[in-house]
Amino acid sequence: MKRRVRIVFFDAKDYDTASFEGALPAFREAHPGMPEYELRFFDTRLSMNTVNLAKGADVVCIFVNDLVDAEMAETLRSMGVKLLALRCAGYNNVDVQACFGKIHVVRVPAYSPYAVAEHAIAMLMTSIRRIHKAYIRTRDFNFSLSGLTGFDLHGKTVGVIGTGKIGACFIRICQGFGMRVLAYDKFPNSALRESGVEYVPIGEIWKQSDIISLHCPLTDETKHLVNAESIAEMKKGAVIVNTSRGGLIDSEALLEGIKSRQVGAACLDVYEEESNIFFHDFSGHIVEDDTLARLISMPNVIVSSHQAFLTQEALGNIADTTFANILEFFGTGMSENELCYKCGKLETCTRDHRQKCF
Ligand code: NAI
Repeated sequence: MKRRVRIVFFDAKDYDTASFEGALPAFREAHPGMPEYELRFFDTRLSMNTVNLAKGADVVCIFVNDLVDAEMAETLRSMGVKLLALRCAGYNNVDVQACFGKIHVVRVPAYSPYAVAEHAIAMLMTSIRRIHKAYIRTRDFNFSLSGLTGFDLHGKTVGVIGTGKIGACFIRICQGFGMRVLAYDKFPNSALRESGVEYVPIGEIWKQSDIISLHCPLTDETKHLVNAESIAEMKKGAVIVNTSRGGLIDSEALLEGIKSRQVGAACLDVYEEESNIFFHDFSGHIVEDDTLARLISMPNVIVSSHQAFLTQEALGNIADTTFANILEFFGTGMSENELCYKCGKLETCTRDHRQKCF
């Protein structure tokens, strides 16, 4: 009889269920000897109140707002869960150090950098060409152009912070528009440099950019990278795009920057306090978060609710990579996409080293 691997999904939306169930038959066909995957989907978040839903599971599959701290890692271990499979790239919601030695953690490092980069561009274009305003106006048969003047991207300077997979895609699109690209990254990419990207100290990003787009992970070092001081250093009227993680921006400082006209516009796919708000329908309810409500009320702020990843291609890749991570883990005891805490090289730990870590 085939071994069964029970996978319990938390925070699962209808599109998660559809993409994982849709991808399974083809994955099974491509891996005839694989164990039987049993999928169970729960739309609730993983918390101490809901963790019992994972009873009997071998794998718990979570998304960006399911928090795994030391207590949760220990609880999952004591329930016999072997693997925590993140169906996302960022892992700031998981205490990887606390998980070490208790539960293995895998993620999907890349599923479609194009999806996120293209969404960042879509938000930027919408904002600077006032498409969000025009859409509402023409639906009401108001064909006036008053107040809809935008500006060309061609010839403008964009500052990109974080030039990994998504940042690099975003840069290539900006180069197509004929923009000057400044970049800041702890590990500059030589291919991008050869293509004309100018790596500069972060202060120059603030000073010189007409548009600033964030594509670095949220870490202790990058938390509130955009704050009152960095906003004060920016060109007056700079446009800020954040499709990375909400905590990169101090939201109160951003609101002040918008109110003082120092910030020209903000395009936010992520928000610092999004975890209890985004992905839910609050229409007809009172939103308690005054900062978010005030930001949304601004004519030059566009908010989408962590939607940048949401393309058919990305969902398909997330399902395939998650299934492959699980197959590899239960076949070999580890996975290429495992987050290894011990060596401290979360991104670059080699397979050989990882074997020694556990
Ligand atoms: P990546 O790992 O390929 O690139 C991240 C880059 O940031 C690397 O080049 C790294 O050297 C750089 N970096 C790290 N620390 C830095 C620092 N202190 N200052 C400047 N640069 C730093 O990651 P990828 O795939 O490009 O994703 C970037 C971020 O996008 C993720 O961390 C995640 O938070 C976010 N994301 C958002 C999604 C959405 O739906 N809105 C979907 C997927 C990812």
